[in-house]
Amino acid sequence: MTLTAWVNGEFLPLADATVHIEDRGFQFADGVYEVIACFGGTFLDLQAHLHRLEQSCQAIAIELPCCLAELEQLIRQTYQRNPYDDAMLYVQITRGVAPRSHLIKAKLQPTMVITSRALPMPSDEQITQGVTAITLSDIRWKRCDIKSIALLASVLGKQEATRQGADEAFWLDDVGHVLEGCATNCFAVIDGALVTHPLDQQVLGGITRDMALRLAAEQGIAIEQRPWHLHEAGLSECMMSSTTNAIMPVCKINDQIIATGKPGAVSILLRQQMLKTFEALKQPNETN
Ligand SMILES: Cc1ncc(COP(=O)(O)O)c(C=O)c1O
Repeated sequence: MTLTAWVNGEFLPLADATVHIEDRGFQFADGVYEVIACFGGTFLDLQAHLHRLEQSCQAIAIELPCCLAELEQLIRQTYQRNPYDDAMLYVQITRGVAPRSHLIKAKLQPTMVITSRALPMPSDEQITQGVTAITLSDIRWKRCDIKSIALLASVLGKQEATRQGADEAFWLDDVGHVLEGCATNCFAVIDGALVTHPLDQQVLGGITRDMALRLAAEQGIAIEQRPWHLHEAGLSECMMSSTTNAIMPVCKINDQIIATGKPGAVSILLRQQMLKTFEALKQPNETN
C-alpha cells in the first residue's frame, strides 16, 4: 500500500509529504507527538490521546493548529486512506517554520503531520518468553511528562539496549528507582501488588499505563503508585507497557533473572485482558 500522509493542510503520498528545512521541529525538536492504536477501524482511547496532545502543546505554548474535533476528523481521514487492520496513527505538531533562532520571535503557524501505518507487533517469542531490559542512569531532561519529539536520550538508550542484546532500556533515578523505559512505562509485582512509579515530571503518563492500572483494579489486584527498585524483597514480576507493546512481561533485567525467568501470572492476565479489549474494538457497533 502506498502510504498517504496529512501534512500541513493536504493529503500527499508519503514520498511527497515533506516539511521545510527551517521547521523548528527539525532544527530544535520543538514539538510534540502522539502514537495511537486503531483496531479494525476503532481507535483505542482516542480521547485520552487527544487530551494528552493538547496538554503537551499547552506545556510548551504551541497552539493546536485546529480544534480537537477537527483533529479527530483528520486522524480518522488519515486512517481511512491507510486502513490497516491493526494500525498505528502518528500525529506530530511542531511550532512551525522560522529562520533559525532559539528565541521564538513571532507567532508561527504550527506544522502538523499525521500518518497511519501497520501497528508493529511483538514477536510470538517475545510474548511467550517475555522480553529483556537493561538499566541506565536517566540522562533525559526534567519534563518527561511532556510527550516531546526531543528523543535523543531514548534513541541512544534503545541503541545501547540492542547493543547489549536486550529489548528495552529502563531509566533509573539517582537512587536506583525504576522510572520508565525509553518508550514504555514500567511495572513490578511486589508482594502481589502491581507497583509503578507515580505520575510526576520524571515519567510520561502512558495511556497504556492507565489501561493496565484500570484492568488490574478490575481484576482485584492491589495497585501501588510509588518509587520502586529492582532489588525489593517480594518482587516477583516485571513488565512494561506502551501503545505498541500493550503489556509485555520483562523476564531479565541486566543479569537479574526475574523470579522463574518466565512471564508471571499478573502480566499474563493483564495482557490477556488487554488483547480482549482490542478484540472487542474490532467487533461491529463499537464506537471509540
Ligand atoms: C517515555 C515513554 N514512556 C511511556 C510510553 C508509553 O506511552 P503510551 O502507553 O501512551 O504509548 C512512551 C510511548 O512512546 C514513552 O515514549
